[in-house]
Amino acid sequence: MLQDKNIIIGVTGGIAAYKTVELVSRLRKSGANVHVIMTQGAQNFVTELTFREISGHPVVTSMWDRVQEFKVEHIALAQLADMVVIAPATANILAKMAIGMADDMLTTTVLATKAPVLVVPAMNSNMYTNPATQQNIGILKDRGMLVLEPASGHLACGTAGIGRMPEAAEIFDYIANYFAEGREQQDREELLAKLKGKKVLVTAAGTREPIDPVRYIGNRSSGKMGYAIAEAAVKCGAKVVLISGPSSLQPPAGAEFIPVESAREMRQHVLEHFPNTDVVIKAAAVADYRVRDVAENKIKKDDEELVLVLDKNPDILKELGQLKKPGQILVGFAAETQNLLQYAKGKLEKKNLDMIVANDVTKPQAGFNTDTNLIKLLGRDGSVEELPLMSKKELAYIIWQRVMKLL
Ligand code: PMT
Repeated sequence: MLQDKNIIIGVTGGIAAYKTVELVSRLRKSGANVHVIMTQGAQNFVTELTFREISGHPVVTSMWDRVQEFKVEHIALAQLADMVVIAPATANILAKMAIGMADDMLTTTVLATKAPVLVVPAMNSNMYTNPATQQNIGILKDRGMLVLEPASGHLACGTAGIGRMPEAAEIFDYIANYFAEGREQQDREELLAKLKGKKVLVTAAGTREPIDPVRYIGNRSSGKMGYAIAEAAVKCGAKVVLISGPSSLQPPAGAEFIPVESAREMRQHVLEHFPNTDVVIKAAAVADYRVRDVAENKIKKDDEELVLVLDKNPDILKELGQLKKPGQILVGFAAETQNLLQYAKGKLEKKNLDMIVANDVTKPQAGFNTDTNLIKLLGRDGSVEELPLMSKKELAYIIWQRVMKLL
């Protein structure tokens, strides 16, 4: 999330400035471009040289520095910033920002930037709880600045109380989460715009092939993956048809729901809806075989052995691959216990798919009847995208995002 983000770190004169060195290091390691501005006070605690080495950039210590890299304009960093972080923020800088002063490089940058500003106060607890400081923090919050509250504990001045700067890891997580949430929001909005009004068909859960009136051949699919995909599409404004084998899940409100039992029933409904569908995602675990002679009555257990002859079921997805018209997108799933990529790639080609979602169902917390899944997305162009373990609901959005790129 932080790759290539320009983070401006303002360091003011507090003992906690040493923690900011670690923060800069973490940010840089995560791919961010970090530029440090130090107030005069800050230079009494940590040297400019330390921040220069850790950030990999010259450090700005004065309005009148001639730092060639920033083309010297005193608002260059303000314009460059994706975020300005002031850590530690002393009572003094809070007061200056609250009244809008611009008497050094840091306050000037804060005043000139349009980027979000994160303030991390750290000071003696009496100074922190003083109504003047609290009022200043309130003013900054009202203006939309982000404030990461200090922790309580032993303070450098020998007292204990609120005022400790949070550890570098906590500040880093706050920044990373901020960008992650922003990105997610942006992605969802883009997806919403693209999926709105599209006709999509999703299949979910396992089919059941009857043996007699009370028994069937089935599988462990719960429907969680397919229902999550259907729900995400409904939320993004698509017209969704969900064709599902038996499942205990509640179908998403707003989807046209067609419950089915067997593979042949599923096939019939899928083929009926396919001609005017933009995207099909087949997450269902369809039974590959059905019993040739389904017993009319419950089979009695008189014999030591029972032989069932199975006939091959139609491969619904393969049929869709043959019927597919230009502009229609076909996405399949591959549930494998071995040779995941090889088998998934084979299905992608054989069934004429645009994308296949490969899940290794032997992995813990992945595959059948789990809330999470571990998947690889294989594209027609030979691309393979490996995603980390995630909830099926989150994965549903990512799958739709990738599908929309194909449309
Ligand atoms: O429902 P959950 O508990 O959440 O579990 C999710 C899941 C593991 C079932 C799901 O993520 C998944 O992998 N679904 C596909 C399972 C499967 O049957 O894979 P397959 O490799 O046998 O089939 C490949 C593709 O062809 C699938 O898209 C399947 O829907 C389709 N197919 C298969 C056989 C058939 N006769 N007709 C088909 O359309």
